[in-house]
Amino acid sequence: MKRPRDSRPWARVAIKKISQLVKHELHTYLEPHGQTHLLAHWDALAPHEQQQLAKQIHEIDFPLMARLHRQGGAGVDWTELAQRAEPPPAYRLNGEGRTCSLEDVRRPGEVALSAGKIGVILVAGGQGSRLGFDHPKGMFPIGPISGASLFQVLFEKVIARSRRHGVRIPLYLMTSSATHEQTIEYLREHNHFGLSADDVKIFCQGTMPAVDLRTGRLLLEEKGKIFKNPDGHGGMLAALAKSGGLADARRRGIEQFFYCQIDNPLVSMCDPEFLGYHLIAGADVSTQVVAKRDLRDKVGNVAIIDGRMQVIEYSDLNPLSDEIVGRKTSDGKPVFWAGSIAVHVFDRTFLERMSDHAEGLAFHAAKKAVPHVDVSGQRIEPEQPNAIKFERFIFDLLPAARNGIVVEVDESLAFAPLKNASTEKTDTKETVQGARMAVERAWLRSADVRIGDQVPIEISPLFAQDADDVKKQSGRLPKAIDRSTYLTPDALSP
Ligand code: UD1
Repeated sequence: MKRPRDSRPWARVAIKKISQLVKHELHTYLEPHGQTHLLAHWDALAPHEQQQLAKQIHEIDFPLMARLHRQGGAGVDWTELAQRAEPPPAYRLNGEGRTCSLEDVRRPGEVALSAGKIGVILVAGGQGSRLGFDHPKGMFPIGPISGASLFQVLFEKVIARSRRHGVRIPLYLMTSSATHEQTIEYLREHNHFGLSADDVKIFCQGTMPAVDLRTGRLLLEEKGKIFKNPDGHGGMLAALAKSGGLADARRRGIEQFFYCQIDNPLVSMCDPEFLGYHLIAGADVSTQVVAKRDLRDKVGNVAIIDGRMQVIEYSDLNPLSDEIVGRKTSDGKPVFWAGSIAVHVFDRTFLERMSDHAEGLAFHAAKKAVPHVDVSGQRIEPEQPNAIKFERFIFDLLPAARNGIVVEVDESLAFAPLKNASTEKTDTKETVQGARMAVERAWLRSADVRIGDQVPIEISPLFAQDADDVKKQSGRLPKAIDRSTYLTPDALSP
C-alpha cells in the first residue's frame, strides 16, 4: 500500500519550507500596509487554508482599504449637501408633470413588454438578520394564508406579467456570498416557481473586507480567513457585467431593466405605466418614489443637487437637525418629500456604459459589530461597533444619468417592505400582509365581491395582477367571501 505523500519526512520538510517562503513573501507584501497580523496563525493552518488566505490577501486592494479607513465615512459633508438640495421634479399622482393621458403613458410600456424588450433585475443579497430569520430573505414565508415565500410571490409576478404579454421576461437575480448556495438550492427544489430555468440568471455580488474602527486593520473571520461582507447592492453592476448577464440581455434584445428589491411583495412588477414614463422621457434611469409621511421615514431621499438627481440615504439625512431635514422651498413645499422605494428602470445601454466605471462607485461606511479572531487566537464577539463595513449603493448611479425621471406611486398600492421583526411597529410581516390584503380586498370589491375587513384573503399573482384581472374573472368568483381564502388559478371552478 502507498504511504500518503507528506508522511515521508523529506516531503514534510519541503512543504514546511515552501510554506515559510510563502509566509515571508506575504509578510513583505503586507508590512508597508500595516497588515502583517493577518499571518498571526499561519503556522497553525493546513496547507489548503494557507492557500486560501494567500489568495484572499492577493485579491485585496490595501491602499483602497487604508483610504476608506482614513475617510471613515466622513468623506461627505451631508449637512452642506442637504442644504443645497432641491426637490426633484416628478410625475405626481395628482397629474403634476404629465401632459398626456395615463393611457397614453401606459401604451409605450405595454408595447415594449409585448416586444420582449423588458428584463427584470431582482436584488436578493440580503439575509433576514433584522427579521431574526436565518436564511436568505427571499425564503421568508410572507403569504398570509399560503405561506408563499417572497421569492415565490415575486417570481409569480414575473410569470404573470410575461403571460399577459405573451413573452419571456428574463429574471437576473442577484445573490451574495451569504445567500448564493441556499438560494440556488431552494429555487431548484421549487422548480423556479414555474419560470423556465433558462430565464433565471442567478449571479453573485462581490465582497468587501471590513476594517477595525480604530486601527484600520482587516479582521480575521477564522484563523485562515479574512472577514468580508457583501459589497452592497451597488455591487450589482460589476457582478451583472462579470457574470455575462448584461451580454445575455443584449443578445435577447432586452432594452430596459425593471429593477426591484426582494423585500417588497407589493411591487407592481414591470409596471407598464412606469416603463411608459421612462420611454416617453427617453431616460437613462427612472425611479419610483412615495410622498414621505414623516420627515424621518426610513427611505432614501431623492433630490436634485447641482442639477443632478441623487439619493441621500435616510441614515445620512435623519441624524441632521429638524431645520435641515424639514427644509422647505420658497413656496412652502418640503424639499425632502420624495422617498425612494428602490424601484428603478435602467436602460441597458446606460448600464453598459456605466459598467466600465462600476469600480468607481463610492463606498458608504457603516460602523458595525463584527465577530472575529484576534492575534492570540481568541474569538471576540463585540457588543458595540468595532469595525467599519463598506458598501456600494446602486442609486449612486443616478447622478451619472443624462436624463433621470421621478415617478410618484401610491404607497398603499406599491410599497410594503419587509424589514423588521414582528416586535417592531413598522415594516413587519404583519404590516406587509395587512397592506397586501387591503389591496386585494379592494380588487375583489371592485368586482362586486363582498368581503369584510377582517376576512383573511390572498390572491396569487397567477390568478390576478390587478383589479382588472379580478374583474375579468368575476364570473368565477363567489358573491361574498366570508372566510380565509387563497385564490389561485385552480382554486375556483372554471
Ligand atoms: C433600502 C434603500 C433605501 C430605500 C429602501 C426601500 C439602501 C442603502 N437603501 O433601505 O434607500 O428607501 O431600501 O425599501 O439600499 N441587498 C443586496 N446586497 C447587499 C445589500 C442589500 O442584494 O449587499 C439587497 C437586499 O436583499 C434588499 C435590498 O438590497 O433587497 C435593500 O437592502 P437593505 O439593507 O434592506 O436596505 P434598507 O436599509 O432597507
